[in-house]
Amino acid sequence: MSETAAKPVVLTCAQPTGRLHLGNYLGAVLNWGAMQDDHECYFGIVDQHAITVPTVPADLRNNTYLCLAQYMACGLDPAKSRLFVQSHVIGHTELAWILGCICPLGQLERMTQFKDKSSRQESVGAGLLTYPVLMAADILLYNAAKVPVGEDQKQHLELTRDLAQKFNRTYSETFTIPEPFIAKTGARIMSLQNPAAKMSKSDPHAAATVFITDTPDEIRQKIGSAVTDSGSEVRATADKPGVTNLLQILSACTGKSVPVLEESFAGKGYGDFKRAVTDAIVDTLSPVRERFALYSTDRTELDKVLKLGAEGAQKTAYKTLSKVYRKVGFVERPR
Ligand code: TRP
Repeated sequence: MSETAAKPVVLTCAQPTGRLHLGNYLGAVLNWGAMQDDHECYFGIVDQHAITVPTVPADLRNNTYLCLAQYMACGLDPAKSRLFVQSHVIGHTELAWILGCICPLGQLERMTQFKDKSSRQESVGAGLLTYPVLMAADILLYNAAKVPVGEDQKQHLELTRDLAQKFNRTYSETFTIPEPFIAKTGARIMSLQNPAAKMSKSDPHAAATVFITDTPDEIRQKIGSAVTDSGSEVRATADKPGVTNLLQILSACTGKSVPVLEESFAGKGYGDFKRAVTDAIVDTLSPVRERFALYSTDRTELDKVLKLGAEGAQKTAYKTLSKVYRKVGFVERPR
């Protein structure tokens, strides 16, 4: 245990929202996986966050398993990291309550994501407003030093840092102040049909998004119909956003730099280029798809993984929670 205790703590969480796509994989999950050997990693599936907007119970349950199977297929390893479901660990909502008591209401009302989501909701639950406080609890409960997040979550991480500092000032040094972690190699993958928009699972155009479980045939069709740009040169320039996106995908899949790839396609057309992109994606995703087929059908095994993850996470969570309870002046629970 002492050898893992020295490793910096990494935590990230995701809502169980269905299928992962190539952008999630190349831009995020691949990088999380790469941190597992030299960090103490916590990867949470946040079902308590998911219910801040209306959800269908059966979908939530299925998506939670689906999410776990996909993460494992992408290389998150329950033997190295703690893969857990938020509602399985006592401490997230408990700590969120305490942080909520020191969190200025105005700061929550100013959150971009709250304003955005609440404007699309007929009735707005209090949970949607306090969502970022629960996220702060997710992070601080494990004393995470690095938190891999996308651009859209940076404001929430800023709030987490503010709350940690305020708690430390008010009650004495307790929490590590977390840093956002943006991977150097994190590729920003765009829609195959509109390279000005990020690749998204909810894109209405079916050919815009490659899912990690797509078959080689589906991948071939989607890359075949991906928008390219006028001209025939394979170059990553501002006037070629479609080709640039495909070059970035190829680069992320092969590990070769964009300039090296441009060089290798000099004098060749889009046909050769698209074949190479297709092959690279198929090679990258085939093992992922095969592992997913194995894991997703075995709920017994997935439940075992969740048990292991919850036990690992709970150990750390209890430590932090009892420290926090003591600091705020709660009387110790009689044993
Ligand atoms: N809010 C994040 C999202 O929607 C998910 C999340 C919840 C999270 N808790 C977290 C991300 C803690 C990082 C750390 O993407």
